[in-house]
Amino acid sequence: MSELHHILTFPIRPITKEAYLPKLSAFLKSGIPATYTLEQVAAFEQGKEDDETTSGSNTTPLHILARSLPEDLSSDETVVVLEMMNTLFEYGAGWNFLDYENKSIGDLLLEKRGQDRNGILYQRVVEAGVSAELLLRKVTGGEIEFLDDDDNDDELPIIKEDPPKDDEQESYSHSEGATKIAVDNDATAADQETYLHTKLEYTDDALVTKDNRDGVMMDWETNIMKLASDTIFPDLNDTSSATVLNIGFGMGIIDSFIQEKNPKRHYICEAHPDVLAKMKKDGWYEKQNVVILEGRWQDTLNKLLDDGNVFFDGIYYDTFSEHYQDMLDLYDLIVGLIKPEGVFSFFNGLGADRPICYDVYKKIVELDVAIYSMKCEYTTIHIDKQLPDWKDVKRSYFNCNYYYHPRISFI
Ligand SMILES: C[S@@+](CC[C@H](N)C(=O)[O-])C[C@H]1O[C@@H](n2cnc3c(N)ncnc32)[C@H](O)[C@@H]1O
Repeated sequence: MSELHHILTFPIRPITKEAYLPKLSAFLKSGIPATYTLEQVAAFEQGKEDDETTSGSNTTPLHILARSLPEDLSSDETVVVLEMMNTLFEYGAGWNFLDYENKSIGDLLLEKRGQDRNGILYQRVVEAGVSAELLLRKVTGGEIEFLDDDDNDDELPIIKEDPPKDDEQESYSHSEGATKIAVDNDATAADQETYLHTKLEYTDDALVTKDNRDGVMMDWETNIMKLASDTIFPDLNDTSSATVLNIGFGMGIIDSFIQEKNPKRHYICEAHPDVLAKMKKDGWYEKQNVVILEGRWQDTLNKLLDDGNVFFDGIYYDTFSEHYQDMLDLYDLIVGLIKPEGVFSFFNGLGADRPICYDVYKKIVELDVAIYSMKCEYTTIHIDKQLPDWKDVKRSYFNCNYYYHPRISFI
């Protein structure tokens, strides 16, 4: 352990400015990187080069700080720790490295601070994540990446949402990235073109890809779909005059809830031929208030916007194998298609692989829609009882036991 690492274990109590900040600043000013990892120290001690570290983890100074936080940290001490974090971030500390236990700084702070997501230390990491993500978005195309050793050759810290690092890790991966968006090694999930040419199969409780059993939709989300269908009707007392749009039919769970409200017009946009075939078989084409837009929303909604005849009271978005950049593109269409008092919502699996990432994206969406003078209000619902045990899938895609349900409307 280096001297920099040592002072972050808080050897002196109480934690005061005088005891810690000058020393910390001096180490960083002297050129020790704020990202100097325990693994690099170990490699150095063994006479290896930095890039010869083989552990695949990055235990950074901020990890050591988070791991070493005393349980009886006073509020004065918390302020000093916050200043230490600020200093480390100023000197380029990353918020998204994973340590020797595959934990991010956010994971460790939540563990240490009783899962308090509103605590100032955790929120400081969220803030750092939001800044980094917004700064790097243009460079990285909106991908999120958690950094471990495999990614060290990237010049800039990117955040990717917990991609599996070996080919074995097939995933039920429909909700990484933005909504049901894939950012992993699986081509079906990561690439729309591949997905749209992949055969699908409906099982009792899911819609999966036929060959490798990737989940496109699972019925554990039924309660979320119920809440979402209520949300996109701005006036629940008069749903029969509403015109709503659902993007992504999947198992049709939300569409069935929407139908129960008997709206004036219920548009459904769906791109996959197997899903469209199922919709035909189940009679969705015959429903008198249903209009089906066949094809990708990227193609069909532009036409609707150009025609200028339809404006929606509510729009819901829940697709598969798209990226956050797609959502950014969608916002442009939403503002043109939604009525001034209309509501937009989406399946929020953004970063739900990890609480810190989920919180970073929660803020990013707020900031992105604010550009359109829209506000995103979240309802937090507890979903631990609804979550599946994931035993049939190699990787769970939703690792938070709460769900941030978004309701987006004009300010
Ligand atoms: C997760 S499912 C939707 C589940 C749905 N919310 C429900 O309640 O069952 C995603 C659906 O989006 C469709 N989809 C994927 N990309 C699309 C796109 N670009 N345009 C339209 N539909 C798309 C998929 O084929 C799939 O049917």
